[in-house]
Amino acid sequence: MWRRPRLGKAGPVTAPDGEGTDVFDTKVRDREVHTGPRPAHQPQWSDHPQYELARRKLATAPALVTAAEVADLRTVLADVAAGRAVLLQAGDCVESLSECTAKHVAGKLAVLDRLAERMAARTGVPVVRVGRIGGQFAKPRSRATEWYCGRELPTFRGHMINSTLATPAARQPDPHRMVLAYDAAAVVTHLVGQRRLAATGPWTSHEALVLDYEESLVRVDPASGTTLLASTHLPWIGERTRQPDGAHVALLASVANPVACKIGPNAAPDDVVRLCRLLDPDRVPGRLVLVMRMGRRGITDAMPGIVVAVRRAGHPVIWLSDPMHGNTVRAGNGMKTRYLRDVAAEASAFREILEGHGQHAGGLHLEVAAADVTECVGGTVADDAALRSRYTTLCDPRLNPDQAATLIDAWT
Ligand code: PEP
Ligand code: CO
Repeated sequence: MWRRPRLGKAGPVTAPDGEGTDVFDTKVRDREVHTGPRPAHQPQWSDHPQYELARRKLATAPALVTAAEVADLRTVLADVAAGRAVLLQAGDCVESLSECTAKHVAGKLAVLDRLAERMAARTGVPVVRVGRIGGQFAKPRSRATEWYCGRELPTFRGHMINSTLATPAARQPDPHRMVLAYDAAAVVTHLVGQRRLAATGPWTSHEALVLDYEESLVRVDPASGTTLLASTHLPWIGERTRQPDGAHVALLASVANPVACKIGPNAAPDDVVRLCRLLDPDRVPGRLVLVMRMGRRGITDAMPGIVVAVRRAGHPVIWLSDPMHGNTVRAGNGMKTRYLRDVAAEASAFREILEGHGQHAGGLHLEVAAADVTECVGGTVADDAALRSRYTTLCDPRLNPDQAATLIDAWT
C-alpha cells in the first residue's frame, strides 16, 4: 500500500531565513501517516533539489490566518446554514502570481462587493463574501499534456506548480514555486484582511490541492490547541480529489476551519453522506459547505437523492451552487467556454430542488474576472466569435462582472 511520507521529524525545524513571528507554533505537527489511495493530481517533484528547502520554508512560515478569524467565519456560516444569510464565493479560476498586487486585489474585491451588494439587495439577507483568492494557485487538469502552436507540452497546472510559458523546461514542476505562492498569498491575505476590518469584507478560500503545500501549513494554535489549516480561511476539496479514504479528505477532516467539498453529477448519495460523516462528524452548522457542480443536464437527476440522504443523515450543511464547472464546453471555434444560459439554468434548478425539499439555497460559487473579459458567451458577449477579443484566463473561462450580475439576478 502506498504510504504518504512523513513531513520529517516532529519538533521544531530550523528556519532557513529567520523564524515566523505569528502566534502559532511553527513546529510541524507529527501527522499520521496516510495509508489510503495515492493522492491524485500531485506534482511529482520530491527528488527536485529545491524540494526539501521549500517544505522547510513553508513549515516554519507564519500562519496566514488566525484561529479567531476561522472561528468568526464559522459563526457567520452558521447563519447561512440556518437560512439567515447567503454566501457568495467568487474569483478567478486560477490566480496569477503577477496579479497579487494591491491594485489587482482592490479590483477583485470591488467586484466581489458589487456582486454581494446586488445579491443582498435582491435576497434581503446579509451576504457572506468569500474570494477564490490568496492561494488559488494550483489546478487539477484532465490532461497531462496540451498542444501549443503544433507542439505538445506538459499542461499548465497553476503558478504554484509550473509556468504558463510554452517551453518544455518552463512546464516542469518546480517546488520552489510553492514558496513564491506562499509569499504572494501572504500579501493578498493581508490586503483582504485590511478590508475585512473596514467592512463586512471577504474571507479567503482556495482548493486545498497540493498536499506538499497544504500539509506544510497546518499549525496548532498554542492558546487553544486548535489545529488549523493556516493557508486560508475556507479550504475546499475538488471533485477530483474527494475520495473518502483519500489524503485530501483526511487533511480537511483534521482541521478546525470551515471546509467545502465539490460534488459532481456522478456522486452517489451514500458517498456524499460518507463525506459528511468524515468532514462534519459532530453535525455543526457552519462547518461544511457542499458545492454542487453537476451541469445543467446532470443536476435534476443527481441532486435530489443527495439532498434527501444528507438531510436524513442530519448534517446541517450549506448547499452552494457552482454552476460553472459542469457546463464547460468547446465553442464552435474550438475555444473553451461556458454559456451563460446553461450556467443560469443550473443555478435555478439548484434553487428549485432545494426549495422543493424545504432546504435553504445557500448561495453561489462563481468564477468571475475583475476585468471585462470575453470568456463566456451570453449577455455582453454576443456569440462565439466575440470570445476572441479579451480571453485572458490562465485556465477556465470566467464570467465578466456584468455576466455575473445577470446570473445573480436570474438566481434571486
Ligand atoms: C475549480 O473550482 O476550479 C475546480 C477545478 O472545480 P471542480 O473540482 O469542481 O472541477
Ligand atoms: Co475552474
